Amino acid sequence: MRVFVAGVTGAIGRPLASGLRAAGHQVTGMTRSAEKARALERMGVDAVVCDVFDAAAVEQAMRAAHPEVVVHELTDLPAVFNPRRTDYTGTNRLRREGTGILVAAARAAGAHRLIAQSIAFLYAPEGGPVKDEDARPIVGAPAPFGEAMAAVLDLEQQVLHADGLHGVVLRYGYFYGPGTHFAADGSIAGEVRRRRFPVVGSGAGIFSFVHVDDAAAATVAAVERGAPGVYNIVDDDPAPTRLWLPAYAAALGAPRPLRIPTLLARLVAGRQVAESATRQRGASNQKAGRELGWRPAFPSWRQGFVSGLG
Ligand SMILES: NC(=O)c1ccc[n+]([C@@H]2O[C@H](COP(=O)([O-])OP(=O)(O)OC[C@H]3O[C@@H](n4cnc5c(N)ncnc54)[C@H](OP(=O)(O)O)[C@@H]3O)[C@@H](O)[C@H]2O)c1
Repeated sequence: MRVFVAGVTGAIGRPLASGLRAAGHQVTGMTRSAEKARALERMGVDAVVCDVFDAAAVEQAMRAAHPEVVVHELTDLPAVFNPRRTDYTGTNRLRREGTGILVAAARAAGAHRLIAQSIAFLYAPEGGPVKDEDARPIVGAPAPFGEAMAAVLDLEQQVLHADGLHGVVLRYGYFYGPGTHFAADGSIAGEVRRRRFPVVGSGAGIFSFVHVDDAAAATVAAVERGAPGVYNIVDDDPAPTRLWLPAYAAALGAPRPLRIPTLLARLVAGRQVAESATRQRGASNQKAGRELGWRPAFPSWRQGFVSGLG
């Protein structure tokens, strides 16, 4: 199939482009950088140099590529992730405005399917520990996370209700692997080595992880099959922070994480961080397994942190 990937140079975009090429698809990838475009060409991707906010150029590039499927993996988060002070403005604009531009261009170019990224850590902290796609998302979170969450939900609605396109939303778990914040050279690894990423309270907040190569493989599956709708793309092992964080530190060769009271975490890092660390829910991948026929090569972060951190 002919596939147009926006965000092809990112942490997931790179393994996605390789996976699509290996499966025999023709890939056009969009980047703002002429240098990255040359690297894409070397891996067999037809590169277009374009900023998503230049709507006319995006439409022109998309018409020239004439894709059957468009994949949206755009984000604009800083390399150093600080949950309290992260500026989501750029990513929020990509999600709201950028998505609209991609939807319009995909339709103009005659694509029939649109796949876009979302997050699996958006479920309201209520009821059971592990959520399927029908569970209620968080509403009313404090800034800046609340605005970021509203932008994610806006993206999802634009994709799922895009006239004339089969919209697929992939709610990815926390990425680990090369190029991610959890990679051995990533910013979260740095915080853990400095013992600045503690277990908060009882450490009951549940995280669902996914290796970027597994997320890419799931996205290839979603290009090829599956009904329109929402899919959680996470590993088989949602786990509380008190379990995964010490294992992650050990995999890095870092000292054991500190434990701090929830009240202190609220004061130092803000309400949302304390909330995620103590009350976040995990996500179930059963629908993706059943309907996309996707299984993660790293079913658990337990092996993934040891052999797949990158
Ligand atoms: N990281 C996680 O743990 C995680 C978890 C769940 C979901 N997600 C979501 O998955 C998606 C992909 O994440 P990632 O970690 O792969 O992102 P990333 O590594 O930061 O890559 C961002 C991509 O977006 C492109 N981009 C940014 N602004 C652009 C613009 N104005 N015009 C054109 N392209 C632009 C960049 O292209 P150039 O720089 O080459 O132009 C790059 O290819 C994101 O939406 C993210 O929110 C991430």
